[in-house]
Amino acid sequence: MCGIVGYVGTGDKSIEVLLGGLKRLEYRGYDSAGVAVIDAAGDLGTRKKAGKLQVLVDDLEATPLTDGTTGIGHTRWATHGGPTDANAHPHLADDGKLALIHNGIIENFSELKAELLAEGVEFLSETDSEVAAHLVARAYRASGDLTEALRTVVNTLDGAFTLLVVHADQPGVVVGARRNSPLVIGLGDGENFLGSDVAAFVAHTRRAMSIGQDQLVTIRPDSVEVVDFTGAPVETTEFEVDWDASAAEKGGWSSFMAKEISEEPEAVAKTLLGRITAEGAVTLTELDGVRERLLTVDRVIVIACGTAAYAGILGKYAIEQWARVPVEVELAHEFRYRDPVLDEKTLVVSISQSGETMDTLMAVKYAREQGAQVLSICNTQGSTIPRESDAVLYTHAGPEVAVASTKAFVAQGTALFLLGLHLATLRGTLSTEAIAEQVADLHEIPGKIEQVLESSERIKTLAGWMADTRSVLFLGRHVGYPIALEGALKLKELAYIHAEGFAAGELKHGPIALIEPGQIVFVVVPSPRDPRSLHPKVVSNIQEIRARGARVIAIAEEGDAAVLPFADEVLHIPLAAPLFEPLLSVVPLHIFGMELAAAKGLDVDQPRNLAKSVTVE
Ligand code: AGP
Repeated sequence: MCGIVGYVGTGDKSIEVLLGGLKRLEYRGYDSAGVAVIDAAGDLGTRKKAGKLQVLVDDLEATPLTDGTTGIGHTRWATHGGPTDANAHPHLADDGKLALIHNGIIENFSELKAELLAEGVEFLSETDSEVAAHLVARAYRASGDLTEALRTVVNTLDGAFTLLVVHADQPGVVVGARRNSPLVIGLGDGENFLGSDVAAFVAHTRRAMSIGQDQLVTIRPDSVEVVDFTGAPVETTEFEVDWDASAAEKGGWSSFMAKEISEEPEAVAKTLLGRITAEGAVTLTELDGVRERLLTVDRVIVIACGTAAYAGILGKYAIEQWARVPVEVELAHEFRYRDPVLDEKTLVVSISQSGETMDTLMAVKYAREQGAQVLSICNTQGSTIPRESDAVLYTHAGPEVAVASTKAFVAQGTALFLLGLHLATLRGTLSTEAIAEQVADLHEIPGKIEQVLESSERIKTLAGWMADTRSVLFLGRHVGYPIALEGALKLKELAYIHAEGFAAGELKHGPIALIEPGQIVFVVVPSPRDPRSLHPKVVSNIQEIRARGARVIAIAEEGDAAVLPFADEVLHIPLAAPLFEPLLSVVPLHIFGMELAAAKGLDVDQPRNLAKSVTVE
């Protein structure tokens, strides 16, 4: 989704700050970029180009803009109107003296546009955003106050939006507003920043402040003022961004995805940090405020999208087994439209890396309106979903820049395991010793993931052999099932190959008809040590598909000899507690998806059609 940067300072360095911020926001997915700057003479200059940010950078190098102390920048992911120079942001109004950028969708833009057309306004683009620019210009001409003008307009808009606006008559001022769309403030020394997330300004400051729903912010070099849409001042809290600019850089890796897969051990370790004791207990102090309500919980509903939803399925098995409370996992975009039965004893757990996924955000809001308590598992401080929740359990995977989620997945699984043990502690469904045993096993996972990463080269070779593959199937059972789903999703979104994940038990109920000679099938094999005795069943599945000509790549724990005679390839993972093995078996599938995409010469970090954070429904 769109990237947004705003800057006010004392030196003429807006262009450098804006382009640097947009560079760090590239991972959000976009198809055009632009900037607007008020220079020392009080003139508003703007440049915008369809295509990647580099197209804009090259154009500015060829034909420079005069720099200044005040500016806004934008990367656009096209919604209304195609990715063209004219549709790129910023949009101008008031005879080119006002510039506006927008993230989101203005649902009532058609009637507002008709009103402006009737007044003789001429439009240069097909976008809903340009309508907002002309509305703010009209309000500014009436009030002479940019904050008041934007406030007047946002009270007439329906939909989701983050808007930033500057006016040549007000150098040193950037005004922003947000509804159901992200915006955070960066606090500098003699300079201040706005961004769709902290990556926009983390190179300049790690002091940040979040902006709540239906609020406006006015930044000047030495002041930050936040009001709500009625104009009433609003208290805001400052927080420290817990990663630095280098964390959001590739650091010598071939891609952000490669870097982030390498960080999967650390993502688990950092998510555990401070939450398990030497005695083997789980301490989630961030949930102290909801402790009493958690004691009354009689059902859990996990809501999320994509990879986060698959982490939710993993958590379901653990929470049900340990805390003996029923857990349902729902795709967020389906959840609120099925008229779910919720009450104060329902715990809704949302999972989101970005904290901005609109489908998940709207489901969270719906659940709270229905009286459920909402706990969010999120990886991005200052994002919107945690602010709309009763409590938040942050994962500490660090910034995940690649569109395809990897380290966030293992961090989400870890957070869910911690939540499950926490609920078991509160409900007394596990003994102290049993919890300590799980904690000890969990504590070993980062080191075991490190061991799996050592097989990366072999997986890269395997992927090279399959570069022309047209279809891949993934089978898993019990906690291996969400891993099959995740492996298939990675292949779809990275290598653009049709891939499907199945519960292995489902094979004979239809999918086995897909098996023909040469069909590649990954099988996530359960541990032979697991008391559920699923291992022989899955080995039988392997035999059944081999008998029909499938090429089987098995992911199995070290020492599992039963699988060797039936698989074409076996990728081994170290022994671990069966419930935690998915945090290991997912890693070869993350590597495989990335390497197959690379073998096909595809953009591993920014796959086609996708955005890192889907901030529209
Ligand atoms: C996963 O690789 C995809 N990028 C996508 O499915 C993603 O997990 C989903 O959009 C949810 O994003 P979130 O965790 O930021 O809410």
